[in-house]
Amino acid sequence: MVHSMTNDCKDLQEKILKLKKERKALILAHNYQIIEIQEIADFVGDSLQLARKSAEVHGYEMIIFAGVKFMAEMAAILSPDVPVYIPDPNALCPLASYIDAEKIRQKKREYPGVPVVVYVNTTAEAKSEADYICTSGSAVEVVESLGVDRVIFGPDANLAEYVRSHTNVEIIDIDQRGHCYVHNMFDLNMLIELKEKYPDAVAIAHPECLIEVQEAADLVGSTGMMVRTVAESDAKVFIIATEMGLLHQLQKHHPDKKIIPMYEGAVCRQMKKHTLEKLLDVLENLPSENIVTVPDQYAPHIRGILERMNKVKGQGPAVAIEAES
Ligand code: 13P
Ligand code: SF4
Repeated sequence: MVHSMTNDCKDLQEKILKLKKERKALILAHNYQIIEIQEIADFVGDSLQLARKSAEVHGYEMIIFAGVKFMAEMAAILSPDVPVYIPDPNALCPLASYIDAEKIRQKKREYPGVPVVVYVNTTAEAKSEADYICTSGSAVEVVESLGVDRVIFGPDANLAEYVRSHTNVEIIDIDQRGHCYVHNMFDLNMLIELKEKYPDAVAIAHPECLIEVQEAADLVGSTGMMVRTVAESDAKVFIIATEMGLLHQLQKHHPDKKIIPMYEGAVCRQMKKHTLEKLLDVLENLPSENIVTVPDQYAPHIRGILERMNKVKGQGPAVAIEAES
């Protein structure tokens, strides 16, 4: 899994780093980005960390956000004074399409007065109907912080199951079919076989995985929690059930540890739409179609609920990986 870099790739990275300085651009990248983008980013993290970073941007004239669009939208909302660009505007998370504003309104009619918590992997329109927002790294804490008996939750049914197993609050699914196609690729047999082969390994699964995979894993958490765990643990072997971009990062930063993917085919095609070429194009041409905006009618409400989430503790890692530049 060790990555070798071509000269073309190095050239592109150098051009990006030079222009990034000239343009005073901040590059934020999600843990699932290709390693070549992670290497030139100013900050790499999970959704919660990226939301928090976006709220603290000072001294930059533009942000380039390498992640799926809803993440870039968070940055646009939390950092309204600088334009946020996305290298490929078609990087959309399919999980987000399971719920829309009308589905949420329908649940609210069914359960009047019950607060709505949406996973950050939702459209701006869906968020506009929510009372609270969470990421995988803050879901349990957000739900627990409300002091209520039940919440309406969506769109990810596996994350909902994870929250259920960590709280007494009743979780009402907005759509039980909601899932991430990448994390649904992992099945229990894969984990059982790997555990037999590597009995000393620590298995960590993302809460978007099927519940039987979560239950068989040693730990469950966000990509940021996985980064922290591998960095801080004395264990030498880890079985990881999440998207491959994170695994490349872990192996690069921890050459002394063995990082085993639960399944090498777990690649998020939407996250991988971003390339160094597209990133360079943004810096060179500032294309207006790559600027991420959130309609004015949704932005103030979403800003409010994002700021509320950023105040909840969450499992966001103490050890964030700052990219080399
Ligand atoms: P994290 O917040 O754990 O990085 O997860 C984001 C995501 O899209 C998982 O598929
Ligand atoms: Fe969406 Fe799944 Fe890709 Fe995460 S890994 S961005 S949830 S499709």
